[in-house]
Amino acid sequence: MTTREARSAFEAAYGREPTTVASAPGRVNLVGGHTDYNEGFVLPMAIDRRTTVAVAPRDDGRFRLESADVGAAVAVDDVPAEPLTADDEVWANYPLGVFVDLAAAGRFEPRGLDLLVAGDVPRGAGLSSSAALEVATAAAAYAVDRPGVGTADLPKRDLAEAAWRAETGFVGLDCGIMDQYASALCRADEVLFLDCRSRETRGVPFADAGLNVVVVDTRVEHELASSAYNDRVRECEEAVERLDGLLGGVASLRDVDRDAFLAHAADLPGELRRRARHVITENERVEAAVDALEGGDVDAVGDCMFESHASLRDDYEVSCGELDTVVELAWETEGVVGARMTGGGFGGSVVALVETDAVDGFRATVDAEYADRAGVDVEPRTFVCSSAEGVRLDSA
Ligand code: GLA
Repeated sequence: MTTREARSAFEAAYGREPTTVASAPGRVNLVGGHTDYNEGFVLPMAIDRRTTVAVAPRDDGRFRLESADVGAAVAVDDVPAEPLTADDEVWANYPLGVFVDLAAAGRFEPRGLDLLVAGDVPRGAGLSSSAALEVATAAAAYAVDRPGVGTADLPKRDLAEAAWRAETGFVGLDCGIMDQYASALCRADEVLFLDCRSRETRGVPFADAGLNVVVVDTRVEHELASSAYNDRVRECEEAVERLDGLLGGVASLRDVDRDAFLAHAADLPGELRRRARHVITENERVEAAVDALEGGDVDAVGDCMFESHASLRDDYEVSCGELDTVVELAWETEGVVGARMTGGGFGGSVVALVETDAVDGFRATVDAEYADRAGVDVEPRTFVCSSAEGVRLDSA
């Protein structure tokens, strides 16, 4: 969906032109699964699939929101204090949560708005469509009363934090900051190293690696996805509490290095031991993957990805048969250097790094074998992605 198409959809919905149009991308994460809410490291890349938000102000306090993607419209007389609960309205909590947060911080005057969402980030596929919507909304809301503001003037980190607070505080998923930071700050031809404790970011060149990013959307989303996500957050908190009792000075799993963990692993109940082991080893894999990318060692990057998947599957237990099947197919295919689940898990997508001349063969293998091997009745969706720029304000 181009900016022009989003503008036309806005005009069709509201009978006038939008004054501000912003867009933000979805993402894949090469390594660093479930480390963000443990104050660890992640390595996402924004993809060339974006969510566009077109807005125009009103002055009667009313908010009208329409999604060309979901095919639904919502209108409220004010920014609501509580999230909406009707099934066909909950999608609007993402933009509304952003308005609530920006208004509380004095960065947005909630005097009413018409808003239209359109885009091509697949929903429910682990590619962060919700962060793309939050971040694009945050940029549009920030810019709507600031004529002349351009992409370079956007306070991207603040908008990412606002988007994250909307998701955790208003929508209610206890997620980490990776998706919102990726959608706001990634740059084309790079992956983004992010330290989720200090919020330090560093672009790591990716274009020269000569690899293609192939996403395989399994087209399944298991029901327990968001409740299990919040369960993992709680389990990590419990592991932190116990390790703090044993070691002292442990505020998050980030504070536990491999040696300290190994010295005390036997004192943790098995499940918490596995959760902590995943997070601690996964942080090491992110650092190793950055070194490997910078050193041009693509095979080592791929190894980090396969190892990450195994750890998410066995220690963290957030994978599922369908994701495992795709990663197995990747492992068996010549020219696929690495693959792992991306996103929260229990369905969604696999991200694979694939040599150019192996892309078609890998996609054909997945198309031919996925459904039978995984024992499901759905066709997977595969697509090749390029790295993309984070949030931006779009002109016509
Ligand atoms: C989801 C969350 C992120 C992150 C990933 C797992 O995408 O929104 O914060 O925790 O899962 O790495």
